[in-house]
Amino acid sequence: MFDLSGKTAIVTGARRGIGRGIVLALAEAGADVVVSDISQEDCQKVVEEIEGLGKRAFAVKCDVTQKSEVDEMVKKTVEEFGKIDILVNNAGIAPLKPFLEISEEEWDKVLDVNLKGYFLCAQAAAREMVKQKSGKIVNIASVAMGQMGVGFANLAHYCASKGGVAALTEELCLELTPKGINVNAIAPGVIETPMSEPILADPEVKKGLLARIPRGRVGQPEDVAHAVVFLSSAEADYISGAVLTVDGGWLAG
Ligand SMILES: NC(=O)c1ccc[n+]([C@@H]2O[C@H](COP(=O)([O-])OP(=O)(O)OC[C@H]3O[C@@H](n4cnc5c(N)ncnc54)[C@H](O)[C@@H]3O)[C@@H](O)[C@H]2O)c1
Repeated sequence: MFDLSGKTAIVTGARRGIGRGIVLALAEAGADVVVSDISQEDCQKVVEEIEGLGKRAFAVKCDVTQKSEVDEMVKKTVEEFGKIDILVNNAGIAPLKPFLEISEEEWDKVLDVNLKGYFLCAQAAAREMVKQKSGKIVNIASVAMGQMGVGFANLAHYCASKGGVAALTEELCLELTPKGINVNAIAPGVIETPMSEPILADPEVKKGLLARIPRGRVGQPEDVAHAVVFLSSAEADYISGAVLTVDGGWLAG
């Protein structure tokens, strides 16, 4: 089960954190992978790790807010691997700032990376996927996407962008599933990465969070990566438009 041999995957924001975990897990499941992020050098290090596992990978510097770079990433993937089967929209930023202090530029930057970037990558990849009438798109949202019963202060722009990702996932499901492309989202809870470092660094905040997570620990990138492997596999062919929470039970608590 969950064998991705012969499949080709692009993961954005894959130089570290959850993206790195995802690209490693997809490679372990057999996929050829494209490690994409804003630093070619950092991506190359992840590629070397993957090649060490005996899998095929290459690095592409891609700022997901730049359409020309996204188009180039997709072009290079098709040139190198012949097709795209899986896209994982993962690149994101979460700068903490009280709502009353967020500037227009800061708002635009978060929405550009976390939402416009997902649109650009999904559109460019789906244009390739429709040719083969198959594909899997997995969007990394967040339990901060709204309507989930948990609140996040100082992240108005981030929460709005993740709500947009959930809505985009649902809409793309309607348009792309008939064309053979499954579109799903994953909503992680708190995962230990450089992004969550400022939050988890405060022992009181961490204690408060742990008290609300039935699993009793914060998540690791692999926890999200395993869910991505599942949603990218043939076993998930009948799943589209879903938002899967990976939160150690937090939302049920
Ligand atoms: N860590 C958590 O607790 C948590 C929880 C829920 C959702 N998420 C989501 O998971 C995803 C990964 O987050 P993470 O925790 O690994 O954070 P991270 O900061 O460790 O990794 C994010 C990656 O995105 C890249 N990136 C930023 N701007 C980019 C751009 N313009 N173009 C391309 N890449 C860009 C960064 O370079 C970085 O490598 C994000 O979408 C985040 O919102 C994280």
